[in-house]
Amino acid sequence: MLSEQLKQLQGSPTAKFFRLAKEREANGHNIIHLEIGQPDFQPLPSIVNATIDAINQGKTTYVISSGIPELRNKIASAYTDDYSVDLNPNEEIVVTSGAKQSILASIYALLNRGEKILFPEPYWVSYPDMARLSGGQFLTVPMQDDFSLNQEYVKETISNTDVKALLLNSPNNPTGHIVSSQELSFVKDLIEDTNLMIIADEIYNDYMYAPSSFKTILTELENWRDNVIVVNGFSKTYSMTGFRLGYSIANKTLTQGILRFIQASTSCATTFCQWGAVTALEHRFEAQKVIEEVFPVRRQLLLDEVSKIDGLSLNSVDGAFYGFIKYSHSEKPSELVAEEILNKANVATIPGAAFGDSADGYFRVAFSRSEEEIKEAFKRIRDYMG
Ligand SMILES: Cc1ncc(COP(=O)(O)O)c(C=O)c1O
Repeated sequence: MLSEQLKQLQGSPTAKFFRLAKEREANGHNIIHLEIGQPDFQPLPSIVNATIDAINQGKTTYVISSGIPELRNKIASAYTDDYSVDLNPNEEIVVTSGAKQSILASIYALLNRGEKILFPEPYWVSYPDMARLSGGQFLTVPMQDDFSLNQEYVKETISNTDVKALLLNSPNNPTGHIVSSQELSFVKDLIEDTNLMIIADEIYNDYMYAPSSFKTILTELENWRDNVIVVNGFSKTYSMTGFRLGYSIANKTLTQGILRFIQASTSCATTFCQWGAVTALEHRFEAQKVIEEVFPVRRQLLLDEVSKIDGLSLNSVDGAFYGFIKYSHSEKPSELVAEEILNKANVATIPGAAFGDSADGYFRVAFSRSEEEIKEAFKRIRDYMG
């Protein structure tokens, strides 16, 4: 009954572990949830109030597919103020229903049937199904041990297999790696040599830990309009996950393509949420302060806790809010190790293999939880490992 296109999708592997954890919780176990990739703070009251006001004022109708001009203008000014990048809000910005829709629409905008996109691995779990859905194909190249791009491999794969696009996710989920200027200059050379297109998923741009810093790819590639689509959104910086609001930045032609995708699927992003997002951008320094106060401490705690446990190791985390932890206490595949951690330590994590075959041997924790929970989780994991 089900179409072949949908049969080939694999669903979200993170959703499986969330479900298992919830089932165990329903059976009376006290679970610490380190599997979920969402911030634990509430959106600022100003954002919530602006959204409610918008509903009360009747801002509940369809709006123009590219998003309300007020929001596109605010996004453009934020890029000018924060990164000195000038954008045309009428032609180069599209507001979407979550960054997820932006990524999917971008893949559709770039790939003809059978054309290839390259995902450096480990990659965010949703990318492969998006490529499958679009009718494109995806290839993967394993990152180096420090999670930077394996430049030789990337170059070889692109020239041997006719890859059209590369997806760069920085700061990275699950590894926390921030793409360096050196890596970007390699990407710039690749673009010059091969006319490669880049989708830059920068959704974690406000989570970075000194001395690392993040700059959008737009600042590093002067001619970005020819080859780059940037994706970002409101879920992570503002904890607006359920508002489902993201955006893409691209040249006029690609923007028009992304708009067609929106018109064929959702018509526009939720109107009153867009008004909440206007306020979010007005208060972005406040939101960034919340992150700066809480997340560097949690990250350090995670690094300390992992370093106390024989058999676990963690590369330095430059950005985002994940620890991608390597284990050597067990030969078992990560799916089984994550199940053991859930069933024996009552801590929910995501197995490394969910992020690509070469990422087996790891599990991912999100440190978007309180210090007490992180401490208790690693006490339990230490006990389980004996
Ligand atoms: C790397 C990455 N990109 C995109 C998204 C999607 O964000 P949104 O909630 O805006 O769809 C996520 C969410 O977990 C993510 O981790």
